[in-house]
Amino acid sequence: MPGEQEQKRGRKIRTLRLPSGRPIPVLGQGTWGMGEHRARRQAEIAALRLGLDLGLTLIDTAEMYGEGGAEEVVGEAIAGRRAEVFLVSKVYPHNATRQGAIEACGRSRRRLKTDYLDLYLLHWRGSVPLTETLDAFQSLKRAGKIRDYGVSNFDLDDLEEAIALPGGEEIATDQVLYNLMHRGIEWDLLPWRRARDIPVMAYSPIEQGKMLKHPQLKLIASRHNVTPAQVALAWLLRQEDVVVIAKASKAAHVRENRAALDLKLTDEDLAELDQAFPPPRQKVPLETN
Ligand SMILES: NC(=O)c1ccc[n+]([C@@H]2O[C@H](COP(=O)([O-])OP(=O)(O)OC[C@H]3O[C@@H](n4cnc5c(N)ncnc54)[C@H](OP(=O)(O)O)[C@@H]3O)[C@@H](O)[C@H]2O)c1
Repeated sequence: MPGEQEQKRGRKIRTLRLPSGRPIPVLGQGTWGMGEHRARRQAEIAALRLGLDLGLTLIDTAEMYGEGGAEEVVGEAIAGRRAEVFLVSKVYPHNATRQGAIEACGRSRRRLKTDYLDLYLLHWRGSVPLTETLDAFQSLKRAGKIRDYGVSNFDLDDLEEAIALPGGEEIATDQVLYNLMHRGIEWDLLPWRRARDIPVMAYSPIEQGKMLKHPQLKLIASRHNVTPAQVALAWLLRQEDVVVIAKASKAAHVRENRAALDLKLTDEDLAELDQAFPPPRQKVPLETN
Protein backbone atom coordinates (compact mmCIF):
# COMPACT_ATOMS: atom_id res chain seq x y z
CA MET A 1 0.00 0.00 0.00
CA PRO A 2 1.38 3.43 -0.84
CA GLY A 3 1.89 5.75 2.11
CA GLU A 4 0.00 8.98 2.52
CA GLN A 5 3.07 10.84 1.28
CA GLU A 6 3.09 8.82 -1.94
CA GLN A 7 -0.60 9.50 -2.49
CA LYS A 8 -0.04 13.22 -2.03
CA ARG A 9 2.82 13.22 -4.48
CA GLY A 10 0.66 11.22 -6.83
CA ARG A 11 -1.69 14.11 -7.31
CA LYS A 12 0.97 16.43 -8.63
CA ILE A 13 1.88 15.03 -12.05
CA ARG A 14 2.24 17.74 -14.66
CA THR A 15 0.07 17.51 -17.78
CA LEU A 16 0.32 19.09 -21.19
CA ARG A 17 -2.37 19.73 -23.76
CA LEU A 18 -3.01 17.70 -26.86
CA PRO A 19 -4.10 19.72 -29.92
CA SER A 20 -7.70 18.83 -28.99
CA GLY A 21 -7.18 20.65 -25.69
CA ARG A 22 -7.34 17.46 -23.62
CA PRO A 23 -4.68 17.09 -20.93
CA ILE A 24 -2.16 14.26 -21.06
CA PRO A 25 0.21 13.42 -18.19
CA VAL A 26 3.88 14.01 -19.07
CA LEU A 27 5.07 10.70 -17.60
CA GLY A 28 3.38 7.39 -18.24
CA GLN A 29 3.76 3.66 -17.76
CA GLY A 30 4.69 1.38 -20.66
CA THR A 31 3.60 -2.23 -20.98
CA TRP A 32 5.75 -3.77 -23.72
CA GLY A 33 6.73 -7.26 -22.50
CA MET A 34 3.83 -7.50 -20.05
CA GLY A 35 1.18 -10.18 -20.36
CA GLU A 36 3.60 -12.72 -21.80
CA HIS A 37 4.21 -14.93 -18.76
CA ARG A 38 1.55 -16.10 -16.35
CA ALA A 39 4.06 -16.22 -13.48
CA ARG A 40 4.76 -12.48 -13.81
CA ARG A 41 1.17 -11.35 -14.20
CA GLN A 42 0.42 -10.41 -10.59
CA ALA A 43 3.68 -8.46 -10.28
CA GLU A 44 2.86 -6.57 -13.48
CA ILE A 45 -0.64 -5.71 -12.27
CA ALA A 46 0.75 -4.62 -8.90
CA ALA A 47 3.38 -2.41 -10.57
CA LEU A 48 0.78 -0.68 -12.74
CA ARG A 49 -1.50 -0.14 -9.72
CA LEU A 50 1.36 1.26 -7.68
CA GLY A 51 2.07 3.62 -10.58
CA LEU A 52 -1.56 4.76 -10.54
CA ASP A 53 -1.33 5.36 -6.78
CA LEU A 54 1.73 7.53 -7.42
CA GLY A 55 -0.07 9.52 -10.11
CA LEU A 56 1.37 7.74 -13.17
CA THR A 57 -2.09 7.58 -14.69
CA LEU A 58 -1.06 7.39 -18.34
CA ILE A 59 -0.79 3.74 -19.41
CA ASP A 60 0.56 2.89 -22.85
CA THR A 61 -0.21 -0.47 -24.43
CA ALA A 62 -0.84 -2.06 -27.84
CA GLU A 63 -2.68 -4.98 -29.35
CA MET A 64 0.77 -6.27 -30.35
CA TYR A 65 2.16 -6.55 -26.81
CA GLY A 66 1.80 -10.18 -25.81
CA GLU A 67 -0.75 -10.47 -28.66
CA GLY A 68 -3.41 -8.89 -26.45
CA GLY A 69 -1.91 -10.19 -23.21
CA ALA A 70 -0.63 -6.77 -22.12
CA GLU A 71 -4.04 -5.21 -22.70
CA GLU A 72 -5.57 -7.89 -20.48
CA VAL A 73 -3.07 -7.12 -17.72
CA VAL A 74 -3.89 -3.41 -18.03
CA GLY A 75 -7.62 -4.21 -17.97
CA GLU A 76 -7.16 -5.95 -14.66
CA ALA A 77 -4.88 -3.25 -13.24
CA ILE A 78 -7.32 -0.42 -13.97
CA ALA A 79 -10.49 -2.28 -12.95
CA GLY A 80 -12.62 0.03 -10.84
CA ARG A 81 -10.45 3.07 -11.54
CA ARG A 82 -10.90 3.73 -15.26
CA ALA A 83 -11.80 7.37 -14.71
CA GLU A 84 -8.35 8.23 -13.33
CA VAL A 85 -6.51 6.63 -16.26
CA PHE A 86 -5.33 8.11 -19.55
CA LEU A 87 -5.36 4.97 -21.67
CA VAL A 88 -3.37 4.61 -24.90
CA SER A 89 -3.41 1.62 -27.25
CA LYS A 90 -2.19 0.98 -30.77
CA VAL A 91 -3.45 -0.81 -33.83
CA TYR A 92 -1.26 -3.11 -35.89
CA PRO A 93 -0.62 -1.64 -39.38
CA HIS A 94 -2.13 -4.72 -41.03
CA ASN A 95 -5.34 -4.18 -39.06
CA ALA A 96 -5.51 -0.49 -39.85
CA THR A 97 -7.99 -0.64 -42.72
CA ARG A 98 -11.28 1.29 -42.67
CA GLN A 99 -13.16 -1.66 -41.12
CA GLY A 100 -10.18 -3.50 -39.61
CA ALA A 101 -9.18 -0.66 -37.30
CA ILE A 102 -12.72 -0.36 -35.97
CA GLU A 103 -12.80 -4.08 -35.21
CA ALA A 104 -9.29 -4.09 -33.70
CA CYS A 105 -10.26 -1.17 -31.45
CA GLY A 106 -13.30 -3.15 -30.30
CA ARG A 107 -11.09 -6.14 -29.40
CA SER A 108 -8.66 -3.86 -27.54
CA ARG A 109 -11.48 -2.22 -25.60
CA ARG A 110 -12.87 -5.61 -24.65
CA ARG A 111 -9.50 -6.79 -23.33
CA LEU A 112 -9.05 -3.48 -21.52
CA LYS A 113 -12.63 -3.68 -20.22
CA THR A 114 -13.37 -0.11 -21.19
CA ASP A 115 -15.84 1.71 -23.42
CA TYR A 116 -13.27 4.13 -24.78
CA LEU A 117 -9.58 4.81 -25.28
CA ASP A 118 -8.10 8.22 -24.55
CA LEU A 119 -5.67 7.87 -27.42
CA TYR A 120 -5.44 5.36 -30.26
CA LEU A 121 -2.31 5.18 -32.40
CA LEU A 122 -1.29 3.56 -35.66
CA HIS A 123 1.67 1.53 -34.37
CA TRP A 124 3.81 2.09 -37.46
CA ARG A 125 3.19 2.75 -41.11
CA GLY A 126 2.33 -0.32 -43.13
CA SER A 127 0.87 -0.85 -46.58
CA VAL A 128 -2.72 0.19 -45.81
CA PRO A 129 -3.39 3.67 -47.25
CA LEU A 130 -3.29 6.30 -44.51
CA THR A 131 -6.60 7.72 -45.75
CA GLU A 132 -8.31 4.47 -44.71
CA THR A 133 -6.78 4.48 -41.24
CA LEU A 134 -7.63 8.14 -40.69
CA ASP A 135 -11.17 7.50 -41.86
CA ALA A 136 -11.52 4.68 -39.31
CA PHE A 137 -10.01 6.83 -36.55
CA GLN A 138 -12.51 9.60 -37.32
CA SER A 139 -15.43 7.15 -37.20
CA LEU A 140 -14.18 5.79 -33.87
CA LYS A 141 -13.87 9.32 -32.52
CA ARG A 142 -17.36 10.32 -33.69
CA ALA A 143 -18.75 7.17 -32.03
CA GLY A 144 -17.03 8.05 -28.73
CA LYS A 145 -14.84 4.92 -28.80
CA ILE A 146 -11.64 6.98 -28.80
CA ARG A 147 -11.04 10.54 -27.65
CA ASP A 148 -7.93 11.32 -29.70
CA TYR A 149 -5.84 9.56 -32.30
CA GLY A 150 -2.33 9.71 -33.61
CA VAL A 151 0.60 7.83 -35.12
CA SER A 152 3.77 6.12 -33.98
CA ASN A 153 7.17 5.62 -35.59
CA PHE A 154 6.43 8.24 -38.26
CA ASP A 155 9.43 10.19 -39.53
CA LEU A 156 8.89 13.77 -40.66
CA ASP A 157 8.02 12.95 -44.29
CA ASP A 158 5.36 10.42 -43.22
CA LEU A 159 3.95 12.83 -40.66
CA GLU A 160 3.76 15.69 -43.17
CA GLU A 161 1.96 13.41 -45.59
CA ALA A 162 -0.51 12.18 -42.96
CA ILE A 163 -1.29 15.62 -41.61
CA ALA A 164 -2.20 16.88 -45.08
CA LEU A 165 -4.86 14.14 -45.52
CA PRO A 166 -8.53 14.43 -44.47
CA GLY A 167 -8.60 13.85 -40.70
CA GLY A 168 -4.83 14.31 -40.55
CA GLU A 169 -5.19 17.73 -38.96
CA GLU A 170 -6.51 15.98 -35.84
CA ILE A 171 -3.39 13.84 -35.35
CA ALA A 172 -2.63 14.38 -31.67
CA THR A 173 0.87 12.96 -31.35
CA ASP A 174 3.69 10.90 -32.85
CA GLN A 175 5.11 8.27 -30.49
CA VAL A 176 8.76 7.69 -31.33
CA LEU A 177 12.03 6.31 -30.01
CA TYR A 178 13.71 9.18 -28.18
CA ASN A 179 16.33 9.08 -25.47
CA LEU A 180 19.89 10.27 -24.84
CA MET A 181 21.27 7.59 -27.17
CA HIS A 182 18.79 8.34 -29.96
CA ARG A 183 18.52 12.08 -30.43
CA GLY A 184 17.96 12.12 -34.21
CA ILE A 185 14.49 13.67 -33.99
CA GLU A 186 16.02 16.86 -32.56
CA TRP A 187 17.25 17.66 -36.07
CA ASP A 188 13.87 18.01 -37.77
CA LEU A 189 10.88 16.15 -36.32
CA LEU A 190 11.01 17.79 -32.90
CA PRO A 191 11.21 21.42 -34.09
CA TRP A 192 8.69 20.82 -36.90
CA ARG A 193 5.95 19.47 -34.68
CA ARG A 194 6.87 21.91 -31.89
CA ALA A 195 5.90 24.75 -34.21
CA ARG A 196 2.52 23.04 -34.62
CA ASP A 197 1.95 22.29 -30.93
CA ILE A 198 1.87 18.54 -31.49
CA PRO A 199 3.47 16.79 -28.51
CA VAL A 200 5.85 13.90 -29.04
CA MET A 201 5.67 10.74 -26.92
CA ALA A 202 9.15 9.39 -26.19
CA TYR A 203 9.34 5.62 -25.89
CA SER A 204 12.21 3.50 -24.52
CA PRO A 205 13.40 6.53 -22.51
CA ILE A 206 16.11 4.53 -20.75
CA GLU A 207 16.92 2.41 -23.81
CA GLN A 208 15.47 -0.63 -22.07
CA GLY A 209 18.06 -0.32 -19.35
CA LYS A 210 21.00 -0.47 -21.78
CA MET A 211 22.30 3.03 -21.04
CA LEU A 212 22.33 2.79 -17.27
CA LYS A 213 26.01 1.84 -16.92
CA HIS A 214 27.20 4.86 -18.88
CA PRO A 215 29.91 6.58 -16.76
CA GLN A 216 28.61 10.12 -17.42
CA LEU A 217 25.09 9.19 -16.40
CA LYS A 218 26.46 7.55 -13.27
CA LEU A 219 28.53 10.60 -12.43
CA ILE A 220 25.62 13.03 -12.76
CA ALA A 221 23.35 10.66 -10.86
CA SER A 222 25.80 10.44 -7.96
CA ARG A 223 26.02 14.26 -7.84
CA HIS A 224 22.26 14.44 -7.31
CA ASN A 225 22.04 11.31 -5.18
CA VAL A 226 19.67 9.72 -7.71
CA THR A 227 19.97 6.83 -10.18
CA PRO A 228 21.14 6.93 -13.84
CA ALA A 229 17.58 6.04 -14.93
CA GLN A 230 16.26 9.13 -13.17
CA VAL A 231 18.82 11.32 -14.93
CA ALA A 232 17.83 9.86 -18.32
CA LEU A 233 14.14 10.48 -17.58
CA ALA A 234 14.69 13.99 -16.18
CA TRP A 235 16.65 14.88 -19.32
CA LEU A 236 13.56 14.11 -21.43
CA LEU A 237 11.07 15.54 -18.94
CA ARG A 238 12.78 18.96 -18.89
CA GLN A 239 11.23 19.53 -22.33
CA GLU A 240 7.75 20.77 -21.64
CA ASP A 241 6.08 19.29 -24.71
CA VAL A 242 7.46 15.75 -24.52
CA VAL A 243 5.49 12.90 -22.95
CA VAL A 244 7.70 10.13 -21.61
CA ILE A 245 6.66 6.47 -21.43
CA ALA A 246 8.80 4.24 -19.21
CA LYS A 247 8.06 0.61 -18.54
CA ALA A 248 8.68 -0.83 -15.09
CA SER A 249 7.41 -4.05 -13.61
CA LYS A 250 9.41 -3.77 -10.39
CA ALA A 251 7.93 -1.59 -7.64
CA ALA A 252 11.29 0.05 -6.91
CA HIS A 253 11.59 1.08 -10.56
CA VAL A 254 8.06 2.53 -10.57
CA ARG A 255 8.89 4.66 -7.52
CA GLU A 256 12.20 5.80 -8.98
CA ASN A 257 10.63 6.77 -12.26
CA ARG A 258 7.90 8.76 -10.57
CA ALA A 259 10.52 10.58 -8.51
CA ALA A 260 12.42 11.56 -11.68
CA LEU A 261 9.77 14.26 -12.13
CA ASP A 262 11.22 16.03 -9.13
CA LEU A 263 14.81 16.00 -10.44
CA LYS A 264 16.01 19.25 -11.99
CA LEU A 265 19.20 18.97 -14.03
CA THR A 266 21.61 21.91 -13.97
CA ASP A 267 23.10 23.66 -17.00
CA GLU A 268 26.35 21.91 -16.17
CA ASP A 269 24.62 18.50 -16.19
CA LEU A 270 23.01 19.28 -19.55
CA ALA A 271 26.30 20.40 -21.09
CA GLU A 272 28.00 17.21 -19.91
CA LEU A 273 25.18 15.11 -21.32
CA ASP A 274 25.54 16.91 -24.68
CA GLN A 275 29.23 15.98 -24.65
CA ALA A 276 28.58 12.34 -23.81
CA PHE A 277 25.50 11.97 -26.03
CA PRO A 278 25.93 14.52 -28.82
CA PRO A 279 22.88 16.01 -30.54
CA PRO A 280 22.51 15.26 -34.29
CA ARG A 281 24.51 17.39 -36.76
CA GLN A 282 22.53 16.23 -39.77
CA LYS A 283 19.34 14.40 -40.67
CA VAL A 284 19.17 10.96 -39.06
CA PRO A 285 16.42 8.67 -40.41
CA LEU A 286 13.99 7.86 -37.60
CA GLU A 287 15.20 4.89 -35.60
CA THR A 288 12.89 2.31 -34.07
CA ASN A 289 13.20 -0.34 -31.41
N1 LIG B 1 5.36 2.77 -30.29
C1 LIG B 1 6.32 1.87 -30.32
O1 LIG B 1 6.69 1.33 -31.36
C2 LIG B 1 7.00 1.50 -29.03
C3 LIG B 1 8.22 0.82 -29.05
C4 LIG B 1 8.84 0.53 -27.83
C5 LIG B 1 8.22 0.88 -26.64
N2 LIG B 1 7.00 1.52 -26.64
C6 LIG B 1 6.31 1.87 -25.38
O2 LIG B 1 7.20 2.56 -24.52
C7 LIG B 1 7.35 1.82 -23.32
C8 LIG B 1 8.73 2.03 -22.72
O3 LIG B 1 9.74 1.54 -23.59
P1 LIG B 1 10.53 0.17 -23.34
O4 LIG B 1 9.70 -0.78 -22.57
O5 LIG B 1 11.01 -0.26 -24.67
O6 LIG B 1 11.84 0.56 -22.55
P2 LIG B 1 12.26 1.44 -21.29
O7 LIG B 1 11.11 2.03 -20.61
O8 LIG B 1 13.35 2.34 -21.78
O9 LIG B 1 12.96 0.34 -20.37
C9 LIG B 1 12.25 -0.67 -19.71
C10 LIG B 1 13.25 -1.58 -18.98
O10 LIG B 1 13.99 -0.79 -18.04
C11 LIG B 1 13.80 -1.30 -16.73
N3 LIG B 1 13.62 -0.16 -15.84
C12 LIG B 1 12.53 0.64 -15.73
N4 LIG B 1 12.73 1.60 -14.82
C13 LIG B 1 13.98 1.40 -14.33
C14 LIG B 1 14.75 2.05 -13.36
N5 LIG B 1 14.30 3.12 -12.69
N6 LIG B 1 16.02 1.59 -13.11
C15 LIG B 1 16.50 0.53 -13.77
N7 LIG B 1 15.80 -0.15 -14.72
C16 LIG B 1 14.54 0.29 -14.98
C17 LIG B 1 12.58 -2.17 -16.77
O11 LIG B 1 12.72 -3.18 -15.82
P3 LIG B 1 11.50 -3.87 -15.01
O12 LIG B 1 10.38 -4.06 -15.98
O13 LIG B 1 12.10 -5.12 -14.51
O14 LIG B 1 11.09 -2.94 -13.89
C18 LIG B 1 12.62 -2.68 -18.19
O15 LIG B 1 13.50 -3.80 -18.28
C19 LIG B 1 7.02 0.38 -23.73
O16 LIG B 1 6.79 -0.46 -22.63
C20 LIG B 1 5.85 0.61 -24.62
O17 LIG B 1 4.68 0.87 -23.88
C21 LIG B 1 6.40 1.84 -27.82
